[in-house]
Amino acid sequence: MTSSPSRPAPAHGTDPRPANWWRTATVYQVYPRSFADSDGDGVGDLPGITAHLDHLARLGIDVLWLSPVYRSPMDDNGYDISDYQDVDPLFGTLADLDDLVAGCHARGIRLVMDLVVNHTSDEHPWFVESRDPASPKRDWYWWRPPRPGHDPGTPGAEPTNWESMFSGSAWELDETSGEYYLHLFSRKQPDLNWENPAVRQAVYAMMRWWVERGVDGFRMDVIDLISRNPSLPDGPVAPGAMFGSAYEAVINGPRLEEYLAEMNREVGLGAGRLLTVGEMPGSSIDLARRVTDPARRELDMVFTFEHVDLDVRPGAPKWDVVDVPLPRLKQNLASWQHGLADVGWNSLYWNNHDQPRVVSRFGDDSPDHLVASAKTLGTVLHLHRGTPYIYQGEELGMTNAGFTSIDEYRDIESIRYHDQALAAGVPLDTVLAALALKGRDNARTPMQWDAGPHAGFTSGEPWLPANPNHVEVNAVAGQGNPESVLNHYRALIALRHDNPLVVDGRFELLLPDHPQLWVIVRRDPADPSHLLLVVANCSSEPTTVDAGDLPDLAGAALLLATHPGREGLDLLPWESRVLELGR
Ligand code: GLC
Repeated sequence: MTSSPSRPAPAHGTDPRPANWWRTATVYQVYPRSFADSDGDGVGDLPGITAHLDHLARLGIDVLWLSPVYRSPMDDNGYDISDYQDVDPLFGTLADLDDLVAGCHARGIRLVMDLVVNHTSDEHPWFVESRDPASPKRDWYWWRPPRPGHDPGTPGAEPTNWESMFSGSAWELDETSGEYYLHLFSRKQPDLNWENPAVRQAVYAMMRWWVERGVDGFRMDVIDLISRNPSLPDGPVAPGAMFGSAYEAVINGPRLEEYLAEMNREVGLGAGRLLTVGEMPGSSIDLARRVTDPARRELDMVFTFEHVDLDVRPGAPKWDVVDVPLPRLKQNLASWQHGLADVGWNSLYWNNHDQPRVVSRFGDDSPDHLVASAKTLGTVLHLHRGTPYIYQGEELGMTNAGFTSIDEYRDIESIRYHDQALAAGVPLDTVLAALALKGRDNARTPMQWDAGPHAGFTSGEPWLPANPNHVEVNAVAGQGNPESVLNHYRALIALRHDNPLVVDGRFELLLPDHPQLWVIVRRDPADPSHLLLVVANCSSEPTTVDAGDLPDLAGAALLLATHPGREGLDLLPWESRVLELGR
């Protein structure tokens, strides 16, 4: 694509989207590669998504977030983009995308694109041009000479000691110019230089083009990395590590909020008409509150990583897994609820294409408890205040992949970890166990449509095998069973639409230290006796609730339950109920 000069943002005077519509919305993330394959090549595609829109309409979701479908060499499954304004032939055509947008809009569903602008692909024309030191695009990326006193390509010659997420040093030498370029992710994902206003204007022009094409917002990939300390200081080196950490120098940099506000202005994101959500791995509650303060016009909401980092040993890589006692999990979510209660807005998620399946992670995916734990985890999340995000298959109770050999993995991060850990002497069993718990392919196995071959995902050979449990866990089975996880999610989404307390009730966490119970109150700001009460047993053992710990249940109406028909204060494993009091 080409950059175009700054233009006025699109006018929203005739925009049918009411301001802040996303406050009552539930978002559904589609990872196109794994959702539905229409042409039998084993990879999901846009016509496949369009053909399954009725599944989403029946579920009742309001927004579809589409993970990247842009042209890409697919080094990181499309998070390495070589053309922001075209669709990769693997997924279809721009016309297929227009059909998907139209199909969504016809069903009252809005569509949010994934915006990956911390980096491009090394095959993007901007970067190809930028390889020439004389090119006006040279400064669109982070090119640096070798460290003083070092010859290019010699050990330690990298401009900083930073490690990349996916491939050793964060610096790659370009032999021709003798200079290095920065890539915080793989070497095929060079970082854009946001300090350069021409880069920013090119990104905004591209975003306006998508808005004019009819999309309803953007999920912004690792957006808190776009501003960094321009002096590029070396990072601390952990004992025994080969590289230093880039984290301090690149996360939440000094110009982050300036850029977000500028983007908002230049693209016309403001006034809450388009949904914007920033993936912000380093965000604190304070930063999230500032960034999502409507008065500042930066973002509508951010994805925190705090709750999905609780099972990692502090300071260790994500593979170093520790148990998460329930109090830590619920207190963490509660701290975000309190932090953003008066200013800002939360996004709520358990799963996405980077995270293991929640039912395998915080629930119990054994046959006895899978259904109830999937429902209960859905209930507690959706009864928090904020906009919930469902990742494809979560509404079916899909579980981790259960891979036992590295040959089954396709994810660049997982394969990299495997090779690096083995080289460092970590036993193979330990590596495979960590991958089985945390590897990103756990989220990427094919969507389980039915009990047939490859879960109905493809008529060909799927790029990643379907989970064998698709014979039981699938959309057709869920559809036909009133007690299914699918029908429970449908009820949760409907409750958000029907009951204003789900959207606006003030949040309180009761029994914060209870090791099994997750108890939430959502109180009517105008009438404190009117509230929703969520009582959930988040464990695989039965438990009993002490009536004295709860508000007076007289006259309570049961809105939703994992085990309909049961009453009383004894809860079965993973049993939960949502009650309305004082109506
Ligand atoms: C984000 C994406 C992830 C990707 C990375 C680099 O974290 O969610 O899938 O690998 O950014 O783009």
